[in-house]
Amino acid sequence: MRIFFPVALMILVLVGACVTNDMPEPREGAAIFANNCTACHGYRATGEEPLVGGQIASDLTRIMARNDGVFPRARVLSQIDGYGRGKVAAEVMPQFGTLLQGDLVPVEVDGILTPTPRPLAALLSYLESIQLPS
Ligand code: HEC
Repeated sequence: MRIFFPVALMILVLVGACVTNDMPEPREGAAIFANNCTACHGYRATGEEPLVGGQIASDLTRIMARNDGVFPRARVLSQIDGYGRGKVAAEVMPQFGTLLQGDLVPVEVDGILTPTPRPLAALLSYLESIQLPS
């Protein structure tokens, strides 16, 4: 039996590594972004073009710069998901919560690992990867 212990330990470590490293790559989110977000935010995510009605979709490459150099994961996730919205009538951006369903992956939000649908986590990963310095 003794010989199995190191093997079992190795498997545990490997499984552990997979679970903690499960944050999707930015490129996975880039594809979702291209399909759902570019119509308003533009291919460079800078939202240059005014929308019908004159509203400008936020420049998504400067979320961190606008927030004193900190990427506000919780706020960005809820903006995309639509959670907590519907209160401000002027909001133009649709809620993507029902569209972006999938396996849950742990995403660190305000120091807490929060189970998040994979497409949403991928978008977050992509948005973080395109932040420009202030
Ligand atoms: C119909 C146009 C439209 C589409 C499609 C759209 N957005 Fe937006 N987005 C907006 C507008 C307009 C705002 C400014 C706030 C508002 O009015 O809701 C915004 C704001 C945001 C913000 C907040 C930025 C900040 O600094 O807080 C994020 C993040 C965002 N969008 C991400 C996305 C992602 C990711 C997608 C695709 C899944 C997407 N948006 C699709 C129009 C759109």
